[in-house]
Amino acid sequence: MQAFKWLLPYIKRQKWRLILGQIVNGLNIALWIVRPIIAGLIVRDVVQGEQHHLLLPYLALIASVTLVRSVIRYAFIMLFENTAQKILFELRRDVYNKLHNQNFRWFDKNRIGDTMSRMTGDLDAIRHFIAFDTYAIPENVVLYFVALVVMGTYSLPLTGILMITTPVVIWAAWRQAREIRPAFHNVRDQFANLNSTCSENVGGNRVVKAFTKEAYEIEKFSKVNQAFYDAHMGVQKVNIKYWPIMNTCSALLPWILLLAGGLMVIGGHMELYEMITIGGLLWMIDNPTRMFTWSVNDIQNAGTSLDKVYEMMRQPILIQSPENPVRTEKLQGTVEFRNVDFSYSFEPGQATLKNISFRAEKGQTIGIVGETGSGKTTLMALISRFYDTEKGEVLVDGINVKDYNLSDLRRDIAYAMQDVFLYSDTVEGNIAFGVPDASMDIVYEAAKIADAHEFISKMPEGYDTIVGERGVGLSGGQKQRISLARAIATEPSILILDDVTSAVDMETEQRIQEALADKILKSGTARTTFIVAHRLSSVQDADLILVLEHGEIIERGTHLELMDKAGYYASMYMEQRGSAAPRSNAEEADAGFASCSSGPWGNTPAKQACASTGHPASKRSLREGSAPSEKEKGAV
Ligand SMILES: Nc1ncnc2c1ncn2[C@@H]1O[C@H](COP(=O)(O)OP(=O)(O)OP(=O)(O)O)[C@@H](O)[C@H]1O
Ligand SMILES: [Mg+2]
Repeated sequence: MQAFKWLLPYIKRQKWRLILGQIVNGLNIALWIVRPIIAGLIVRDVVQGEQHHLLLPYLALIASVTLVRSVIRYAFIMLFENTAQKILFELRRDVYNKLHNQNFRWFDKNRIGDTMSRMTGDLDAIRHFIAFDTYAIPENVVLYFVALVVMGTYSLPLTGILMITTPVVIWAAWRQAREIRPAFHNVRDQFANLNSTCSENVGGNRVVKAFTKEAYEIEKFSKVNQAFYDAHMGVQKVNIKYWPIMNTCSALLPWILLLAGGLMVIGGHMELYEMITIGGLLWMIDNPTRMFTWSVNDIQNAGTSLDKVYEMMRQPILIQSPENPVRTEKLQGTVEFRNVDFSYSFEPGQATLKNISFRAEKGQTIGIVGETGSGKTTLMALISRFYDTEKGEVLVDGINVKDYNLSDLRRDIAYAMQDVFLYSDTVEGNIAFGVPDASMDIVYEAAKIADAHEFISKMPEGYDTIVGERGVGLSGGQKQRISLARAIATEPSILILDDVTSAVDMETEQRIQEALADKILKSGTARTTFIVAHRLSSVQDADLILVLEHGEIIERGTHLELMDKAGYYASMYMEQRGSAAPRSNAEEADAGFASCSSGPWGNTPAKQACASTGHPASKRSLREGSAPSEKEKGAV
């Protein structure tokens, strides 16, 4: 009922079309009735009354009525289909908008296949109901009762006798409606399952092949396919149970007519032409009886689909802009976490992030490291408010992210995600995704910084090359670099790079780092950059490195400070360098380690320390040496 209430405004917006459709339908019904009446008149006037000259006019009348009725029927069917498409257009638009406003948590819980079923199969069942049943059901009901009334004017007793089957039909339809709804629910669920399995397997076909799991996946699919088949058979079982009852009732009608009507004509209680007219009208009570089954099916099917779509629509959007958001032109880029706790499950003791506090000043580079599953991506997701914190606050420029208009906040934060997703579009379209009006110069520049320009230029159609969804046709590192270029092209105040260089070699990473630092330097704007990485060399120039373990910050500081601590970071660093024991700051400097060997994300203390050692590595790039100090950067 709630679902229908939700649908009603969409129908109301098309009410005039629907009312016009019903009026035209009324005309169509009237013309249905006229034909058997004329047939009766032919029997009465031409056959019995021997007025043979009336035959042709009567036949011409029947032909014209049939022609007009066909034209009318065509017109109103088109009108209903058109109206249904209009309603569907609005429904689809609103469902899609709702989908786009849903937060990450919702997408975490719902499978793509389910959502696709809502958007396709379920909405189509609603369309079918509006396009067909909204005229067919009234048509059948009105035809049934009008035919009864007209039949009654010819012979009330015979009409009464012909109604003998009606209670049985109503009983069977009522039982069928009750039983078929769960069966339809099952069909919709299995359809969603089928969709999910199919989309997962098509999307993951490379994994399937790599693990030679074709046979297993085919077996898995046949189970889902079987379940879908069984679900449909479940519906058919209910239909088969009641169909014979409906069909027998309907088949009995001509038999009853011939028996009762024949006896009444023989007994002189009724004229032959009256029986012929009633015979002509008979299918108008017969056909609706047969159609009753289908209508019940359609109503239940559409009702089930409507429930499913409504279920999706009624889900609250948990993350929304506040009513009176803080207005901001452009974010400055200061980010602060204050005692943040976060959990995906909301269950006690299941916190993914625990008591996170740190501050990133405008223009600083923050490195986030930690073992897999330690919460790095989750931490980054909170800055863009993809999830809300359970406890504590995330502040950008000193303002809680919950107080920003979501698009204002996210517009200035570019997030190159760990799971690269490219659209089925040109390379250029993918890079300019965040700034569709970006000039080609901006696209080229972003690609150059991400070290993607060269390989893109070598592609057969360069920037116009179409890449498939998920970036089919590109290597992992190429995809990452296009995704990085996409983030860079938006010129954000806050740049989040979540493991975006994991698939590129260290030299390429080095080039990217240098180009990015160079760009910041040239543009004269400060950009706060978060780098999530497993390769510690990626973050060792950062102004602040946070080391996460089981959702907690266990160490923090610059590279040199962390090396001095000789804790987790230091041991990981040495392990990655292929050495067993961690060394101190001084030892590192002596050995020419540390940041000297890697590129700059900014002019960091680590780099300054490196420069001060006078180690040859510190002179790798003259540009590095000319980078402004933190103070200078803060001033620009
Ligand atoms: N959408 C989600 N729903 C539920 N749990 C999640 C979700 N995403 C991550 N987790 C869980 O939260 C924890 C932290 O995950 P997160 O992705 O933040 O780790 P990570 O440090 O980025 O790991 P990696 O280095 O592998 O990328 C993990 O235990 C993970 O299983
Ligand atoms: Mg991650």
